[in-house]
Amino acid sequence: MSSEKKYEYSQDDLKSWMEAAEKLVLQAGQLIQANLGKAANLEDKEINTGEGHSSAVLTETDLAVEKLLRDGLGQLFKDHCFIGEENEGSQGQITTFSNHPTWIIDPIDGTMNFVHGNPLVCTSVGLAVNRRIVGGIVNCPIIGHLYTAIKGQGAYLNGEKRLKSSGIKKIKDAMVLLEMPTGANDTKKAIQLANMSMFMDKAHAVRCPGPAATDIAWIGAASADAFIHMGIHCWDMAAGALIITEAGGAVLDTDGSEFNLMGRQIVAAASEELAREIVANIQVYKVDPEFADHCPI
Ligand code: IPD
Ligand code: CA
Repeated sequence: MSSEKKYEYSQDDLKSWMEAAEKLVLQAGQLIQANLGKAANLEDKEINTGEGHSSAVLTETDLAVEKLLRDGLGQLFKDHCFIGEENEGSQGQITTFSNHPTWIIDPIDGTMNFVHGNPLVCTSVGLAVNRRIVGGIVNCPIIGHLYTAIKGQGAYLNGEKRLKSSGIKKIKDAMVLLEMPTGANDTKKAIQLANMSMFMDKAHAVRCPGPAATDIAWIGAASADAFIHMGIHCWDMAAGALIITEAGGAVLDTDGSEFNLMGRQIVAAASEELAREIVANIQVYKVDPEFADHCPI
């Protein structure tokens, strides 16, 4: 447990921080829209290759969007910190996560979709203060869906429609989202195939839309009922996890323990009952957490 002094802030501060972030994220959406299907893969990120192809791709637009968000927020809020996929996240481990407001940014979630011209791409921005997520934005610019949440104030679609998860309690009634990680190592591949097979036997429907941050937001939006991922990162989950919990859903670690933002595992579901039934049925591909301390939502 950290002995660092708590960061003091008001609800008005939080509101103004999230409004500023939303404006920048919408601006970033135009950059994504302009480059969808046109940007080349720059490299296969070496630290991620074992996790599968979709974790390893990178384009100039990922870098440009992260810069736009960091420069914009950094100029407005001088003492805020960042955990960005293409900066702090690029070494495989997070070394610093303080009580200061920290923007947890995935500039483009779904870079694989982005390079293939698929419209399911988003920007995910979570805000943690005192190491708890208090704000989240998942913006899908091509389909025009902007999901937002502020701790204690609910989650919304396009600022208007209050979100409520479906509340479904059983796998047999659920639409389950998961991914088939092409290029992943043999263990991860075998486990994911076993989980796919289990859900095909037990669930009402199974879909693999991706990317992760959109899938997670969709559980909050009642556009699907559950999602699992093993080997995910904090920037894919931070915003979506708050959107789900503010919409009445639940997040857990894949072993059934309390959700850990830095734990690289998630079971996201429309209800805690559904999350627990999933935990009891899945095989788990465990990877090491990306930060030393457990960080509950
Ligand atoms: C990826 C997406 C994908 C998930 C991968 C992530 P990126 O993020 O969220 O859906 O399966 O694990 O790495 O690289 O597109 O930001
Ligand atoms: Ca990304």
